[in-house]
Amino acid sequence: MEQDIIFKPLIFRNLTVKNRIFRSNIAGRFDNYDGSGNQARINWEEKFAQGGVGAIISSFVPITLKGRIVPNYAMIDCDERIPFWRKVGERVHQYDCKFILQLSHSGRQQDIQGIENDEIRLSSTNKTESFHGFKCRSMTTDEIKETVQAFAQGARRAKEAGLDGVELHGANGYLITQFLSEGINDRTDGYGGSLKNRARFLLEIVEAVRKEVGADFHFQCKISAVEYNNAVIPWEKPGNTLEDSIQVCQWLEEAGIDGIHVSTGSLFPHPLNPPGTFPLEGKYATDSAKNSYDTMLSSGVDTFRNYLLFRYRLLYPIFKFLWYRVQGRLRSKTNPVTGLKLTADSLEKEFQNEFSVAKMQELLDIYQGINLAEAGEIKKNLKEIPVICTGGFQQASYIRQGIELGYCDAVSMARTLVANNDLVQQFAGGKDVSDRPCTYCNKCLLNTLENPLGCYEAARYQGDYEAMVAEIMTVFKPAPF
Ligand SMILES: Cc1cc2nc3c(=O)[nH]c(=O)nc-3n(C[C@H](O)[C@H](O)[C@H](O)COP(=O)(O)O)c2cc1C
Ligand code: SF4
Repeated sequence: MEQDIIFKPLIFRNLTVKNRIFRSNIAGRFDNYDGSGNQARINWEEKFAQGGVGAIISSFVPITLKGRIVPNYAMIDCDERIPFWRKVGERVHQYDCKFILQLSHSGRQQDIQGIENDEIRLSSTNKTESFHGFKCRSMTTDEIKETVQAFAQGARRAKEAGLDGVELHGANGYLITQFLSEGINDRTDGYGGSLKNRARFLLEIVEAVRKEVGADFHFQCKISAVEYNNAVIPWEKPGNTLEDSIQVCQWLEEAGIDGIHVSTGSLFPHPLNPPGTFPLEGKYATDSAKNSYDTMLSSGVDTFRNYLLFRYRLLYPIFKFLWYRVQGRLRSKTNPVTGLKLTADSLEKEFQNEFSVAKMQELLDIYQGINLAEAGEIKKNLKEIPVICTGGFQQASYIRQGIELGYCDAVSMARTLVANNDLVQQFAGGKDVSDRPCTYCNKCLLNTLENPLGCYEAARYQGDYEAMVAEIMTVFKPAPF
């Protein structure tokens, strides 16, 4: 195992992580409405620390009340939150696992706006968001300055809580993307226009955070390497290219960022993030989009249109065409590395009743390492800071090659660890892939608005719905009170 790159520590400027597997940002609506955290989140994070990941990068942690995506996510908007995050960090540290908190602001991209956001949401623009139709208002310079300071205060609180670092959520369509994106930002002041101007908000945050936490606290940034801003709505502008993002990452390195976390897409969810299929229909009641998207009906001016597309079978082809258009292009793209081929022994026999070896191999070929080529280009163009890549990873041989060939220094995994919390231990024990892998079905994603987060792929439980629910409910043990 000492020779295995997966288990070689990753040394950042200010942080050493014991292996190359990070738990990527993911959590359910486990916490209290007011943004205080509770035991369920501690239980959630403990599952992954216990499973052997080197570091956990938290889910979206709002730095202000108005910057949340949905209620019931723990926030870091005031000093009263510090003791809770200290508890989270202490629990995770018991497993020699590091904890990095993701400092976040939703901007206009809010799935459930909550009582605090009954008025129009803040953004870089006045333009309504194109997929769900979230209405918004362009931020004033004073609001920008206040928000920059809120990020810095969030970072200070994370440091005071004894956490191991912070990550800026600069990806996936949230507020920082709304400034960075050529497809979204239509400002005519110093925060819009050229790439340098669009990156100004992000670089001001980096400067303010560094000033607050000092030079020796780990500080990384998640970024969408390519935005594919017109992936779903074809008449939108395409958004930032890989070349734009490489330039932004170089500026981030110069500004004192310690690591880059590579993702994709200028909205969330996006056809390429989380990479996989879209659960429109299925055998089980909780499978389909129509059962959870109704929660968003009042959130945007286009949500009713989307709901009809999810609700009526006759309309499915329209949505499928729009959603899978970009994935179609991707299928023809050559994967930069290849993992070992699955064999009949790779997968549990019962699992094979629902997913054949050939089907699972096809899913791995399409979705594993979806951002790896772009991460490699970013890495080539940086001086020294490590690059973490997210997107579909779940096979040791694939990850090993990706790192050894220099595409990235580590990978981050979200759903693939939700499906198999102990996947890193499985790798350490010599397994190449779990015998009940994540099928990239995205049922967890669709359920997260209404139901506790967990793996909702009944096929992984031999169709035993009760067993699936029992596993999902373990996040409430011990109970939040
Ligand atoms: C339910 C769910 C919630 C997520 N929440 C966040 C988040 O809060 N912040 C973030 O940067 N990414 C978030 N992601 C994206 C993941 O962190 C990850 O980058 C993406 O799912 C690709 O990795 P995977 O294929 O291993 O799941 C979320 C993904 C899912 C499925
Ligand atoms: S529901 Fe389970 S199998 Fe499907 S994407 Fe989520 S974690 Fe993977």
